[in-house]
Amino acid sequence: MAGPILVFDSGVGGLSVVRALRHRLPEAALAYACDNAMLPYGTREDAWLVERIHAVCLAAVAASDCSALVVACNTASTLALDVLRECLAIPVVGTVPAIKPAARLSRTRHIGLLATRATVARPYTLQLIRDFAADCRVTAVAADVLVGETERLVAGETPKWLTLHQALTPLWEDAELDTVVLGCTHFPLLAPWLIEAAPRPVTWVDSGEAIARRVSHVVTRITPRQGKEPSFVTAPDERLGRRLARFGFGYPRLLQPL
Ligand code: DGL
Repeated sequence: MAGPILVFDSGVGGLSVVRALRHRLPEAALAYACDNAMLPYGTREDAWLVERIHAVCLAAVAASDCSALVVACNTASTLALDVLRECLAIPVVGTVPAIKPAARLSRTRHIGLLATRATVARPYTLQLIRDFAADCRVTAVAADVLVGETERLVAGETPKWLTLHQALTPLWEDAELDTVVLGCTHFPLLAPWLIEAAPRPVTWVDSGEAIARRVSHVVTRITPRQGKEPSFVTAPDERLGRRLARFGFGYPRLLQPL
């Protein structure tokens, strides 16, 4: 099937996955869609979210005529992947917290999970921990404020140090913790600030590369990039349009959720 690979997130977080995809598949045409009208997803109620994600993704898939959908959002993937796969005839690749690689990397067997409030509490996430990190202590930290800080950063502002420090503090209570999972696609974009804010070196793990690898296996026919690629938003935002341009996307079109 021809067409771009559509990357979807609530906001700019999916751009961390775009970065990994550009690295792995530099020739592939991408499209980007975000539900910026309803950002952040992490503090919203599950039943509402499932309907909303379904409506926005269906509209974005139709508008982009894509060959595959990458749900570049842990909060959406840990909840709505099955629903999307049931109603779409194209491959759907999800993003879930990188618990498995983190457990593989941790020497002390104490890992941290930094994600949205929704993701840290999801049965899907708890099952990942039981399946792949049963012998680890896992300190889960809901850090929804970092979603806002990432949005500010991508819009050209400097993240607030105090907010970053406060959000990360629960991770440092036990000196044994040696690996932190960035379980929200927004957070890799903040990585240089997170590393700087950490009181000691730890290993930071995100899902970007693994998703890009998965996409390269699933999408068998790559449509080549040509000029500006399409992008879609659910609320007009001048600054967001300019930032998307930096990642190769054309000025965003307004999407009407189906
Ligand atoms: N980027 C999204 C994730 O990976 C969530 C951000 C939000 O709360 O909207 O979970």
